[in-house]
Amino acid sequence: MMVLGLETSCDETAAALVEDGRWVRSNVIASQFDLHAPFGGVVPELAARAHAERITGVIEAAFGEAGLSPGEVGGIAVVSRPGLISALLVGVNAAKALALAWEVPVVGVDHIEAHLYALLLAGMAEEPHVALVVSGGHTCLYHVRPGWPPEVLGATTDDAAGEAFDKVAKLLGLAYPGGPALEKAAGGGDPQAVRLPRGRLEPADDLDFSFSGLKTAVLYHLRGGQSPPSPAPGRATGTWIGRELSSREVADVAASFQETICEVLVEKLVRAARQAKARRVAVCGGVACNGRLRAMLAERARREELSCFWPPPSLCVDNGAMVAGLGFRLLSAGQDDGLELDAVPTPLRAPVGR
Ligand code: KG4
Ligand code: ZN
Repeated sequence: MMVLGLETSCDETAAALVEDGRWVRSNVIASQFDLHAPFGGVVPELAARAHAERITGVIEAAFGEAGLSPGEVGGIAVVSRPGLISALLVGVNAAKALALAWEVPVVGVDHIEAHLYALLLAGMAEEPHVALVVSGGHTCLYHVRPGWPPEVLGATTDDAAGEAFDKVAKLLGLAYPGGPALEKAAGGGDPQAVRLPRGRLEPADDLDFSFSGLKTAVLYHLRGGQSPPSPAPGRATGTWIGRELSSREVADVAASFQETICEVLVEKLVRAARQAKARRVAVCGGVACNGRLRAMLAERARREELSCFWPPPSLCVDNGAMVAGLGFRLLSAGQDDGLELDAVPTPLRAPVGR
């Protein structure tokens, strides 16, 4: 069955055609980086408007790239949760309208679980494994076994890893989106230059994450002991730093932050694998594009005699192929959410840290 997958949960308008949940025939992603860059983060209303303007063209491009026509589509899958509600609604309404017009079933897919499915789509064997989803909105550890859904083993109690990358990049005056910019800046820095806190490494069996202390430690380090000016009544001091940063300092802080957060992510993933008695680990989601994270995981997995896996960047970042892939499973099981399908801002199986 050919499935059209749609994704509009945040700042990427994406459409893909995937055959039998396995063969990616097209995967078109229109990112909105330029639109949100002047604001240093995603502006929900602008995101929703841009999705509405672009979604038809992106779907047409997916058909063009695949050389397929709508008559060959057997079902539609769309991210219906979690995400920015006004952005999700664009994809959900487009999916329902097309399902009605083409007389095919439509299913809503959980965005985080779709990131997990990207591993299978990228060729990971369907055997038990522990997977870490690290994105701009989520940081969750799952025990994935045959069948669906996977079991949540741990999650962030505050910021997501990608959010921490983005916020620290902003403190360092780097371009939006922060993750790739910070990785680039870190390339020229000393990862041991600044000692930063590794949150929640204790107790030794803890599988949840906390990154807000790490982010604040970077802010205090950059302030170098200076106190921010008295805030206006009712206003916080925010991200005031009060001085210019040299490119050397930006590189060193970026490298130290990246090293610290990657160490925590790898430690928790390996720890979860031990607890779940899994021999295979995987990482997916936008932050899984990070080269230092991949290198550190590969090295640690080798020492622990674990096999490790990650998808190519086009399947790590938000995309429609992972949605179509997971959607195929649901459609094959007879699910059809029909016109009742609605957008929901929260995840299906609330992966909240304890
Ligand atoms: O999965 P994704 O595309 O969207 C969400 O579901 O949030 O992930 C986006 C996140 C952003 O926070 C972005 O800064 C981060 O992934 N990211 C990276 C890298 N590439 C993307 N973080 C660190 N290093 C990267 N190379
Ligand atoms: Zn995502």
